[in-house]
Amino acid sequence: MIENAMPNSFCCYQVNKQEPQEIIAGVQTVSIDDLPPGDVTIRVVYSSINYKDALAATGHPGVVRNFPHVPGIDAAGVVVQSDSDQYQVGQSVVVTSYELGVDRWGGWSEFIRVQPEWIVPLPEGLTLKESMILGTAGLTAAMCVNSLLQHEISIDSGNVLVTGASGGVGSFAVSLLNQLGYQVTAVSGKAAMHDRLIELGAKQVIDRSAIDTGSTKPLLKTEWPAAIDTVGGSLLSHLIRSIKQQGCVAACGNAGGTDLDLTVFPFILRGVTLDGIDSSWYPIAKRTALWQKLATDWKLPDLDSRAEIITLDQVQATVDSILEGSHKERTIIQISEE
Ligand SMILES: NC(=O)c1ccc[n+]([C@@H]2O[C@H](COP(=O)([O-])OP(=O)(O)OC[C@H]3O[C@@H](n4cnc5c(N)ncnc54)[C@H](OP(=O)(O)O)[C@@H]3O)[C@@H](O)[C@H]2O)c1
Repeated sequence: MIENAMPNSFCCYQVNKQEPQEIIAGVQTVSIDDLPPGDVTIRVVYSSINYKDALAATGHPGVVRNFPHVPGIDAAGVVVQSDSDQYQVGQSVVVTSYELGVDRWGGWSEFIRVQPEWIVPLPEGLTLKESMILGTAGLTAAMCVNSLLQHEISIDSGNVLVTGASGGVGSFAVSLLNQLGYQVTAVSGKAAMHDRLIELGAKQVIDRSAIDTGSTKPLLKTEWPAAIDTVGGSLLSHLIRSIKQQGCVAACGNAGGTDLDLTVFPFILRGVTLDGIDSSWYPIAKRTALWQKLATDWKLPDLDSRAEIITLDQVQATVDSILEGSHKERTIIQISEE
């Protein structure tokens, strides 16, 4: 075992349930012995706040199954203890999703302990801070873009839609598509974000109501060759019905609902593909390859300026804004010094 000094106690953000139903959350001091078992202990430098983390911070039963719970599906930091040949003390690493911050102690903590299979070495070309500005949101956006590439949606096929465009996943999807040469139509419920979305790479910004018209027709006028959807529900069901022949929708989110009101017609009469995107269990080899792309060919030039940075004791305001749908782009948490 390679080990360097770790404190006996440290801080993390814990969510607790007090009988019968009250959720209490905040920064706590805990013992190093409280960390779960695992081969690699990491001092977390940055974490981030995703939609799932906002749910976890409120003790949402769809995300949190055991209390006390430490949220944070993203963490970037430095290895401080390792029983694995793959990772050495002092190495900079990134861990996103799998069970982190869901069934396992998450990244809103000065230390995490995980198995090596979940770890990606910090790719050359990204700082720890940039890796968390991207975080699960950036990785998921990259997976969605990759899906459109794999479904042979060409850059000259017309405007590609991105829904929930002002959010973490949506804003990265807009910029990545633009960087690869696609024409992007951003769909947003926030009129105040229209100029910013153009700055991020959208050619056009439309309101959700332009897609989610309330029509019940099984097929709508075809307008879009492809879409990246972070919203789900009624918006997703409308856009699947308006995708062109042989088009593709990469769907990753449910911020706007979970039910789909659809017939099979878009699929069997227009050959539309609905590609489900799950970043949680995305295999480590493919994940590492996408991180590599995000650090090189797909690296966004303005990455360092795309997030608000807060501390662990300031997370509540961001949690509230995510849950009420008013949050914009990315918020990362600085947990310890670089
Ligand atoms: N499948 C995966 O692996 C994966 C990974 C990461 C995230 N996700 C999911 O993807 C979604 C987006 O995640 P995120 O981290 O980007 O969240 P986020 O930053 O909170 O962004 C979500 C965006 O969706 C839109 N929105 C919010 N509430 C809405 C509502 N009631 N109706 C319609 N639109 C609404 C808003 O954009 P506008 O105001 O611009 O419309 C909002 O900014 C979430 O559902 C999350 O759980 C899935």
